Amino acid sequence: MRVYSLVAAAKINLYLEIVGDREDGYHELVTVFQSLSLSDRVEIRASGTEQIRVHCDHPLVPSDESNLAYKAARLMCAEFPDAHAQYGGIEIAIDKQIPVAAGLAGGSTNAAAVLVGIDLLWELGLTQPEMQTLAARLGSDVPFCVSGGTMLATGRGEELNSLPGLDGIPVVLAKPRQTAISTAWVYRTYREQFGGQYWRDREEAGTQGAASELMSAIANHDRAAISRCLYNDLEKVVLPAYPDVARLRDVLQAAGASGVLMSGSGSTVFALCESPTHAEQVEASARAAIADELEVDFWVVQLSGVGIRVASH
Ligand code: C5P
Repeated sequence: MRVYSLVAAAKINLYLEIVGDREDGYHELVTVFQSLSLSDRVEIRASGTEQIRVHCDHPLVPSDESNLAYKAARLMCAEFPDAHAQYGGIEIAIDKQIPVAAGLAGGSTNAAAVLVGIDLLWELGLTQPEMQTLAARLGSDVPFCVSGGTMLATGRGEELNSLPGLDGIPVVLAKPRQTAISTAWVYRTYREQFGGQYWRDREEAGTQGAASELMSAIANHDRAAISRCLYNDLEKVVLPAYPDVARLRDVLQAAGASGVLMSGSGSTVFALCESPTHAEQVEASARAAIADELEVDFWVVQLSGVGIRVASH
């Protein structure tokens, strides 16, 4: 029986600006997604029954219908009933390396891997746009996770445009171990605090045009300019409510990183660095500075050009 083993990349947001409210309850975004070398391993095989089953030994990852990977498999079964009848249900095994509720799209990238894996297992031959359309029904950043790389996203985050790749730039990730933040809470609080003032805010913050500055910096592969243009509106909600995240951000900055930002809705903070040696120094220095105050997990990884990759079958 065939088994597909997929490498599912985490992401950070190099830029996230909320430009308005949407009638569907979501927010209109301008964001730049970036894949990381940090990844989960997702194995997909036919279950031999009608059922969908998810296996993951991480204590915070559910194995039931609430897991986005389960929902991805259920969506494929509903969309392709003939293939489901022919091949049967799906067994999904997730080896979790990406921290949970961390702003790194761990759940979304697992769901993206399930879409890609079932497409291969059932020999559906879906095109990238067909895959993106299915992915958007699962979550705002699932379409990006399917393709990966460096992308400008608008709408809910599902309208994608490729940008030149930044593969290989070293980055330090740091996450307060006990802090898991709900994305829905962050956006809801943003609306409560800043709703109706989007345009005024943007001018006050001086961010207007910053997305296009970042785009030029990315096109020129100008690391100093990329670091200067890092921006995330959601920091306005999360940093005051979660002092540990704010402290970690300050510590990474003081450790000499080129640019520091919270990823997505947090709680992970990332630091762009000049070289692998520089990244090791920033990590060591930040770790030493915060050791007595806070339990923090660190990762030294790289920006990557790949979303979902087939490792073996
Ligand atoms: O789309 P996804 O399920 O990943 O979104 C998680 C939460 O983030 C949603 O509950 C929604 O409230 C919020 N969100 C938003 N605007 C976006 C993306 C997400 O308000 N563009």
